[in-house]
Amino acid sequence: MYRHYDEAYLLSIEDKERFWGEAGKDLQWYKKWDNVLDDSRAPFYKWFSGGKLNTCYNALDFHVENGRADQIAVIYDSPVTGTIRKITYKELLDDVLRFAGVLTSLGVKKGDRVVIYIPMIPQAMVAMLACARIGAIHSMVFGGFAPNELAIRIDDAKPKVILSASCGIEPKGPIPYKPLLDKAIEISSHKPEKCVILQRPQIKASLIKDRDLDWDTIMKDASPVDCIPVDATDPLYILYTSGTTGIPKGVVRDNGGHAVALKWSMKYIYGVEPGDVYWAASDVGWVVGHSYIVYAPLLHGCTTVLYEGKPVGTPDPGAFWRVISEHKVKVLFTAPTAIRAIKREDSQGNYLKDYDISSLKYLFLAGERLDPDTYHWASNLLHVPVVDHWWQTETGWPIAANCVGIEELPIKPGSPTKPVPGYDIRILDESGKELENEKEGIIAVKLPLPPGCLPTLWQKDDHYIDSYLKEFEGYYVTGDEGFKDRDGYIFIMGRVDDVINVAGHRLSTGEMEEIVSKHPDVAECAVIGVTDNLKGQVPVGFAVLKAGVDRKPEDVQKEVVGMVRSEIGPITCLNQVCVVPHLPKTRSGKVLRSTMSKIADGEPYRVPSTIEDPDVLKEIEEALKDIGYAK
Ligand code: COA
Ligand code: AMP
Repeated sequence: MYRHYDEAYLLSIEDKERFWGEAGKDLQWYKKWDNVLDDSRAPFYKWFSGGKLNTCYNALDFHVENGRADQIAVIYDSPVTGTIRKITYKELLDDVLRFAGVLTSLGVKKGDRVVIYIPMIPQAMVAMLACARIGAIHSMVFGGFAPNELAIRIDDAKPKVILSASCGIEPKGPIPYKPLLDKAIEISSHKPEKCVILQRPQIKASLIKDRDLDWDTIMKDASPVDCIPVDATDPLYILYTSGTTGIPKGVVRDNGGHAVALKWSMKYIYGVEPGDVYWAASDVGWVVGHSYIVYAPLLHGCTTVLYEGKPVGTPDPGAFWRVISEHKVKVLFTAPTAIRAIKREDSQGNYLKDYDISSLKYLFLAGERLDPDTYHWASNLLHVPVVDHWWQTETGWPIAANCVGIEELPIKPGSPTKPVPGYDIRILDESGKELENEKEGIIAVKLPLPPGCLPTLWQKDDHYIDSYLKEFEGYYVTGDEGFKDRDGYIFIMGRVDDVINVAGHRLSTGEMEEIVSKHPDVAECAVIGVTDNLKGQVPVGFAVLKAGVDRKPEDVQKEVVGMVRSEIGPITCLNQVCVVPHLPKTRSGKVLRSTMSKIADGEPYRVPSTIEDPDVLKEIEEALKDIGYAK
């Protein structure tokens, strides 16, 4: 137990082994680790090497054996289907035991990959935990991705089995998943041996003979399977995230460090105790869902809320307040976009008057920049601390936060507060020299990263080094820039690469450009992120047509928008593509994307001295004005 943030932070940096060794004792191990930190293959650091445990045992069996069998583990609250289902630890374990039996009967063994393409229903959690139980490596794919994206992940992870459902449900109605899955398997080179399909009542999927199995039927005959001990350093899952190209990065998560870090974070970052109700209003397909809908709350013996709905429209902007009051939620974690969506529809907070949300102690926000307006609006309305915290798919848990479970520090709007214990955050200039406080630069973490962060990219050690470690030896480069103020508070100013955050969803403009450039009439293109009042950022495309092409710009625009939607998915939200005569470039041919973003956002910008033709910036400004930007 730490009394002060400074004390905990200092210990975590100066005596890492003692700090994480203590935290490791909060889990159950079949065999204790030989080394807390193994640096024998640095920069591939390993945590708890030699240790053996099972993540599913720690998340379920342990609680059932220790007095929580009848405690609610999951509250499935689904306004889109009108369902509320409460599942105890014992009931969840029973399902997981049997689903582990299903996987085993299909020949899935330790180390095999299982792709999961299931929406926000309890079976998604059952599937993940069953994989963990038998040491199989799951790879979840978010439902808003198109078949092509699913196929890329299938080809990289090479799953033995794919688990899916007949549909997801969006406010506009059910979205059939099975045709998307079939299409993905058709275009992927790797083919799974079997697919297990859960038939939801809203849409019945047709099953392919000899390949597809019905979830409920196969579950009926399944025999329970016990946990198997795995190495702390064995992978638990792969989660793909956007990088700078069309090939997503397969972030690997290990078992031991992950379980230790997540359990620690529940108490010390979120201030939550076993038995409390914790709600991450995200999606199981994203890292927030993996960590804080599924693993962390269960590892900590909490009740987790699995919410299949939206902040607005299911049915109204009081939806979040209803869930908090009905289930006595202590901590809510969501993205700023969700709060902006509620604010847009109910700026006076009238819907809150119908609900008693006195159970709520903290609102945590992450996934994108928390703008001060949203921060103040939420604090004034809810009268609880609104805690901005900063993290990434790669780290799997927060890098900077107000660790309210240790000591609640004063909040500075616009800052996710201070480095979380374990993260030695440094601000570097372009030559790798550390900058003093108040100076803006590249945000890096001095190695080793703490437990729970990615040990590598799936079967691509070289790519891991190239993407994160090569630029500055001894540091992990986060891809964000920012500064520390004189009190050591961190301020995140944005990405240095072409990753954008749309409604808290991480997307690559580089990947979108690759698709736009495939259009037969497009000679060259650029996609930039522009500020959006609701979604934080949205992409806007620019296309220069090939010489001699004489087509209506709106036709090309429609086709390009359709291509990006069908190749990446509807969540890209690329709805605007401007057909322009030229792109602004430097004399060496580099497209001036960040200058274009500044013009779109109406921010002051400097015309680079290396620009090829300054007049092109005026053309871009005019095109942006035509679609409502650059004001
Ligand atoms: N499966 C299939 N399609 C999905 C999907 C899913 N799981 N999630 C989103 N989509 C589709 C939507 O139906 C929509 O399609 P459309 O263009 O055909 O209408 C498109 O993707 C964009 O969806 P969304 O980003 O949800 O936009 P929206 O305008 O429908 O809703 C918000 C706006 C703000 C309500 C919504 O973005 C939201 O809830 N944001 C919170 C984000 C969040 O929790 N992020 C997690 C990170 S921590
Ligand atoms: P993801 O991998 O989807 O979690 O996205 C990670 C990226 O989201 C980070 O690199 C940041 O650019 C951004 N991000 C996440 N949390 C915050 C935050 N609290 N403030 C600013 N940006 C954030």
